[in-house]
Amino acid sequence: MKGCLKPEAAKAKSDSGNFLSDIISISDFTRAYIEKALDEAGRMEKASRESKAKMLVNTIVASLFFEPSTRTRLSFETAAQNLGARVIGFADAGATSTQKGESLSDTIHMVERYADIIVMRHFIEGAARRAAEVSRVPVINAGDGSNQHPSQTLVDLYTIRKSFGKIDGIRIVMAGDLKYGRTVHSLMYALSRFSGVTVYLVSPESLRMPRHIIEDTKATLRIHETSNLEKFLPEADILYATRIQKERFPDEIEYRKVKNAYIVTPQVLAKGKRGLKVMHPLPRVNEVSPEVDETGAALYFEQAGNGIPVREALLFLMLAGKMKGGSA
Ligand code: CP
Repeated sequence: MKGCLKPEAAKAKSDSGNFLSDIISISDFTRAYIEKALDEAGRMEKASRESKAKMLVNTIVASLFFEPSTRTRLSFETAAQNLGARVIGFADAGATSTQKGESLSDTIHMVERYADIIVMRHFIEGAARRAAEVSRVPVINAGDGSNQHPSQTLVDLYTIRKSFGKIDGIRIVMAGDLKYGRTVHSLMYALSRFSGVTVYLVSPESLRMPRHIIEDTKATLRIHETSNLEKFLPEADILYATRIQKERFPDEIEYRKVKNAYIVTPQVLAKGKRGLKVMHPLPRVNEVSPEVDETGAALYFEQAGNGIPVREALLFLMLAGKMKGGSA
């Protein structure tokens, strides 16, 4: 589809200077891009509300969510408003002309005329890449099916760096739905940009991490696989729990077999190393018991809160180069 871009469209997209013009896959990020985003997020978190309020004034952010979301949509929209941008969009795809049969490409061709950047979640894997190919304004993938969720991964990395002071050398258990979980897919690729990271993959046999992701990352990650949640907890710094995603299963009987495979409780955490932290991209169902919220191990609400500075940073880095006086 790149060949379909008009020359002026291609030019507009290259104006992002020294940052990515679209955020589609975490695989597009070098370590330097990741660190630039995390450093900028750190500055956003420290900056006063007043000092940020005009950073993206006269900018319009389109928020297109074709799949349910609480955190990603609201934190992107809050981040945009914190920087002075206006937000257009919908949260219910059922109320759009998609219902009348409009193609994704046509929708993007409309929205690129209304907004300066598009944040999109879609249920089809690869939809964000396709949108970026036809759009002359930047596109951020806010989750495409079971494929990728790159802004969540930057939130995860920011949370890890803030809590542990580093990402290199971290030891992380990823537990639950590793087959369909886009957050853990993206996190594997991102962690492979760092050194000395050990990943313990814990899942039922039917929900193992896709082989191609292990092949793509095994040169730099130390990877262990098991179905036993407690096996590697004494060695891990982080337990990254994920929801078993009912909506991704082609067969509900298969879902029922694994839906309660792992439940993290204070008793489970007691088997872990001192200082073990629990992360989760949320929403949770029952895989982390509410009693964990009251322990010092729970990092997941703070993690969700970090969505604001990280998404402020992404919007700023992608748009500020185009703004008068922008310095991204
Ligand atoms: N973490 C995450 O993507 O949450 P939402 O589905 O609520 O956006």
